[in-house]
Amino acid sequence: MQQITNQSLLSFMVLNQDQGIAVSNPATGEILGYAPVSPEHDILDGIERASFAQKEWALLPAKTRSGLLQKWYQLLLDNKEDLGRLMTLEQGKPWAEAQGEVLYGASFIEWFAEEAKRTYGETIPAPSSDKRLVTMKQPIGVACAITPWNFPIAMITRKAGPALAAGCSFIVKPSESTPLSAFAVAELAYQAGIPRDVLQVVLGANSRQVGGIFTSHPLIRKLSFTGSTQVGRVLMQQSANDIKRTSMELGGNAPFIVFDDADIDAAVLGAMASKFRNAGQTCVCANRFYVHNKVYDEFVEKFDAAVQQLKVGNGLEEGVNVGPVISESAKQGIQSLIDGAIEQGAKPVTEPKTLDGLFMQPVVLKNVTHDMDIISQEIFGPVAPVIKFDDDQQLIEMANDTIYGLASYFYSQNIHRVWKIAEALEYGMVGINEGMISTEVAPFGGVKQSGIGREGAKQGIDEYMSIKYLCFGGN
Ligand code: SIN
Repeated sequence: MQQITNQSLLSFMVLNQDQGIAVSNPATGEILGYAPVSPEHDILDGIERASFAQKEWALLPAKTRSGLLQKWYQLLLDNKEDLGRLMTLEQGKPWAEAQGEVLYGASFIEWFAEEAKRTYGETIPAPSSDKRLVTMKQPIGVACAITPWNFPIAMITRKAGPALAAGCSFIVKPSESTPLSAFAVAELAYQAGIPRDVLQVVLGANSRQVGGIFTSHPLIRKLSFTGSTQVGRVLMQQSANDIKRTSMELGGNAPFIVFDDADIDAAVLGAMASKFRNAGQTCVCANRFYVHNKVYDEFVEKFDAAVQQLKVGNGLEEGVNVGPVISESAKQGIQSLIDGAIEQGAKPVTEPKTLDGLFMQPVVLKNVTHDMDIISQEIFGPVAPVIKFDDDQQLIEMANDTIYGLASYFYSQNIHRVWKIAEALEYGMVGINEGMISTEVAPFGGVKQSGIGREGAKQGIDEYMSIKYLCFGGN
């Protein structure tokens, strides 16, 4: 790992498999290093320490917590290149994109450093003249999180930022595939002055074990999870035993709709941004494209031409836009969705090359119909199935015909249609003439089985606070 200039970012690393888990580079298969694994009693000790430390942390003036978060934010920016490189090495996304994620991740720390000072309560007009009613917001206590491999930094900071700003302590279990970035960003938090007991990164024997501890430990009052709907459902069930607060950012099946009045060139740009970010491995990636009959051929031709320009390869190489997918089983899953669609009648616009290792050639599929399996599954890979439609009502029914409701996108220049479709889509987020919707200032989250709660924005900090109502009598 001599590519990393600031070696303090790697100070957590352990020497071998006996002490930690091996982390490998999905582009080359080489082992990058070993991340520390804690035995169960250490994780339990950490929770006790987090609970103790939280009380002091919450007593700090909000401005002090805000200042520490600002310092962390600055260190993240100062280390953007190294953090980006580390992320590319363990996750695969191209270095420029990884640096973009560092900035995106840091933006949550900056945003919640500011929000820390604005957790206002209210005064409520009382129903009788002898009473005065007031609310205040208080931190929940110890919050924990389980985060995925597709955004090794941003999914942590999007949760840690509001938790720490609110006055909670925070324990995160990152993905076993990408723990190096997680430990590195925590190291910068410690350098900024955030106490080690207030922010902890842990890996255990496996995800199930840590999930079990997080959801059953009485000192943990909140669990925030980003990952699959299947795992989220289990974590919610486990959290129900002692009524823990949960936030769930789960799977998606985003429709990307192009109406006949759309600016087709703009739609192609939006489609590229939305579909191929992180090699198609995001919960908000366009998963299925619906294009009006009248503009179908034009869109498909232009979209495929843009897709053929994508350079697939090791994310550290110049000019690469699409890195490897995360694992062999992910590659097999994506390939079997492509094969299944082709068996059911879909056709690649350009025949994709078969690539070695974990690389996959991006592909646009035409002649796709709404009933194919590839349309109901979350693809999580560089594949774009395109369906024809004729009628707005039929389109809305198809777009909403899913258990998911995270992100959706559409392109139209007709203001009346824009409002109608925006209101009719059963999704937590709608990109209108825009393929990139993620930002720290807007509420990120889904409806239906895509989850509960919102991250980022002014709403994000409320997920880590409780409202206390004070009733002053005898006035
Ligand atoms: C995700 O895929 O879970 C997050 C995507 C984003 O924040 O844009």
